[in-house]
Amino acid sequence: MDMLLYFEEYGRPSREIARQISAKALEVKVHHFPDGESLVRIPESLPSGIIMCRSLCRPNDKLVELMFAARQARQLGAEKITLVAPYLCYMRQDKAFHPGEAVSQKIIGEFFSGLFDCVVTVDAHLHRVSSLQAVMPDIKAVNLTAAGPVSDFLASQKDRPFLLGPDEESLQWVKRTAEKCSLDYGVCRKIRRGDRDVEVELPLMKQKYQRVMVIDDILSTGKTMAVAAGLLKKAGVKKVDCLVTHPVFAPGAWELLRKSGVDEVISTDTIPHETNRISIAPVISEFFNRQGCL
Ligand code: R5P
Repeated sequence: MDMLLYFEEYGRPSREIARQISAKALEVKVHHFPDGESLVRIPESLPSGIIMCRSLCRPNDKLVELMFAARQARQLGAEKITLVAPYLCYMRQDKAFHPGEAVSQKIIGEFFSGLFDCVVTVDAHLHRVSSLQAVMPDIKAVNLTAAGPVSDFLASQKDRPFLLGPDEESLQWVKRTAEKCSLDYGVCRKIRRGDRDVEVELPLMKQKYQRVMVIDDILSTGKTMAVAAGLLKKAGVKKVDCLVTHPVFAPGAWELLRKSGVDEVISTDTIPHETNRISIAPVISEFFNRQGCL
């Protein structure tokens, strides 16, 4: 039987993935010392191939702990270690926007390549880089998509919302999802001037829609969604909901969304959050079951 090691804060989704691939799920124990350092303890007896599952939102401490766990697993004889990180951090800084800036995406790619044999994630934010494999050329890197479960969720809804992407970049997943569910769709134009300084222009819509679902890969400060939702409400749309793959929710995001008039936020469980409605376990388990697990 394969073994999946998970960390406490991502316990429920990890155990569900393990169940769906018939792997034994065991927890990596982490003790936080009063000074902020971490002590990591993994099970002593490991098979030669293992999966480590951890979602990497607010990642800095998690990355160090993951490194300790992976290195210790090698010490204990693990030959093949696959990281399942349903949310993969530091993918947005894919170039130096100003002289001297670290290209986090590349450095994190190298960090994982030194620890794991395979990295599996969901809807990694890849913009100027064509594939996750290009970020981690020395190991196997797999970028799955939540489009299937998201489409299933939308198809199960009673009414048929217009799907709106808040920027041109979102066209890839908005189009794919809309076509799967035969929904009308469009994307906004977005100009970002700073972390919380975002301007959005709505597309022309053929008709007046009662419900619009703004759909994006990441909700971080919430500013992108809030600005788009505010414009839709102003234009007279009755119900404006947001659907995101990765509910990062930086401090203040909820307040912004509420003020903008958003009715409901729905997310997948790549990051544990109160808005989680869609499980991505089937996407990950389908991948492992297809390739015969480890
Ligand atoms: C950016 O290109 C992404 O697709 C999201 O639109 C962005 O990360 C959302 O960020 P925020 O919630 O901070 O506006």
